[in-house]
Formats: sequence, structure tokens, C-alpha cells
Amino acid sequence: MTGILYFSSTGNSLQIAKSVQARFDGNIVYIPNYDSDGSELEKIFIVTPIYSYGLPTPVFDLLPRLNKDKEIIVIQNYGGMIGGADSLFYEYALQFGLNVKGIYTVKMPENYTLFLVPPKFYTKSILRSSDKRIEKILDMIEKGEYILPKAKSKKKATYLKNKSNWHLIGKRFSVNGSCVKCLKCVNICPSANIALENGEIVFKDKCIACLGCYHRCPQKAIVYLDKKSKYRYVNPNVKESEIGKDF
Ligand SMILES: Cc1cc2nc3c(=O)[nH]c(=O)nc-3n(C[C@H](O)[C@H](O)[C@H](O)COP(=O)(O)O)c2cc1C
Ligand code: SF4
Ligand code: SF4
Repeated sequence: MTGILYFSSTGNSLQIAKSVQARFDGNIVYIPNYDSDGSELEKIFIVTPIYSYGLPTPVFDLLPRLNKDKEIIVIQNYGGMIGGADSLFYEYALQFGLNVKGIYTVKMPENYTLFLVPPKFYTKSILRSSDKRIEKILDMIEKGEYILPKAKSKKKATYLKNKSNWHLIGKRFSVNGSCVKCLKCVNICPSANIALENGEIVFKDKCIACLGCYHRCPQKAIVYLDKKSKYRYVNPNVKESEIGKDF
């Protein structure tokens, strides 16, 4: 069985994982739920967003333990700038002796929107063009046209510095009066960083900056610093409740 391992906080990577499944079959598995090393799988796809020119923490943590004999194909997606994240992924893969056959990138709508609001028409047009790009990538994989980047990223230091500061994002979140204590944020946080304590939602110091809670709170009650933006993003091609599930 093919394993389609994905990480996603706002659904873009899940949409891609579903396209991979439609083409190649296999099981879709949310990486934070996956504690194996891939030995039970015939082939592995990793579908992941790019974070700070690199990898989200759950993907970064997965790589060292993956089985070195399994063929791995990687599809990264990003909102604006790859910044050598494909090279960085490959560099880590080689460091851990992984058998990575191909790494592909696709632009999807931006979800790092704490400071900006992308225009609606732009998001729609990105989604249209990404559909074509995803199919093209799958065609290439089907034909065995594997692509690999050079194995050196110029932005590794920036990535590692940003990664070490991601916990601060959670510390800058707060919950406003619209919160109905539904506990959805507590349940979806991939790093168990949110809790209900003394009747209040609190953020601890293990945030990995996925922004899932921020975008997916049904009340838009999670605010960043004192910003009042009501813009939130969830990929319209997946059901919000499916993000983080296995299929
Ligand atoms: C913490 C964080 C860092 C990000 N860094 C980048 C980046 O370096 N370059 C980029 O183009 N997009 C960046 N993004 C945007 C996401 O890669 C992009 O929106 C992705 O499609 C989200 O996938 P998802 O919906 O599966 O979570 C970042 C998003 C987050 C939350
Ligand atoms: S998801 Fe939103 S409404 Fe629900 S508990 Fe969290 S902050 Fe409150
Ligand atoms: S606190 Fe929010 S942004 Fe931080 S890891 Fe949890 S869900 Fe993601």
C-alpha cells in the first residue's frame, strides 16, 4: 500500500494529498498521527506546506525516522516564495540517507496572513492554476519523470532561526469575547499547545506556528497581537472538518 503522509493546517496540502490518492490509490495519513517509520508501506508520498523556506516541525521530526529503503516522493506547496525549501528538504533527506526520488513544488493560496489580506480574486486564480500544476506533477510522477533540486539551500540559517521562534506566535495569540469554549482549537492543535484552564482558553509555549487554530476557529475568536483582521483562510476544495484526518 502506498502511504500519502501529509501535514496541513488550512487544507491546501490535504487537497493535494487527495489528488495523489485519486491518481495512485493509497492511504492518506496525517503526519502528527503517524508513529511508524514507513516499513509497512510500499512507497511514500510526503505532502507538506513550506514554512519559512523550510519544513513544518512535524515533517522535520518525521524525516530522521523514516525507513531508508522506501521510495519517497515529495510535493511541497507554498504561498509565495519557495526560498530553497525544496533544496533544504533534499539536503535533510540525504543527511538521513532517505531514498527520495523526486521533489515537486506547487503554489497554493497563502495562509500566513497575520499581517496581510490577499484579494479574493487572487486566491481564486491561484486555486485554478494550482489544479493544473498538481495534475502536471502527477503526470510526471506517473511517467517516472523525477525531478530533484540541488542539495543545498541558502536559507537554512533563516529557516532554523525562524523555527526556533515559532513558539512565540502562540504567545501572541489571545481569545476575544466571541469564544464559545467549543474546544475545537484545543482538539486540532498539532502540538497540544492550547488548553482550557479555569474556564479560559490559554496558549502555552509549544506553538509550531501552523495557524490552524487562528484560521479554523468557527468564531474567528483567536486574534494575533491586537490585530482586528477578520480574514481567515480554509481551502474551499476540502471540508474543514477533514483537515487532520486519515482517509
Ligand atoms: C509558519 C508559516 C510559514 C510559512 N512560510 C512560507 C514560506 O516561507 N514561503 C511561502 O511561500 N509560503 C509560506 N507559508 C504559506 C504556506 O506554505 C502555504 O499557504 C501552504 O499552502 C499552506 O498549506 P496548508 O493549507 O496545507 O497548511 C507559510 C505558512 C506558515 C503558517
Ligand atoms: S475554537 Fe474558537 S470558539 Fe472554540 S474554544 Fe477555541 S477560541 Fe473558543
Ligand atoms: S497554537 Fe495554534 S498555531 Fe500554534 S501549533 Fe497550535 S494550532 Fe498551530
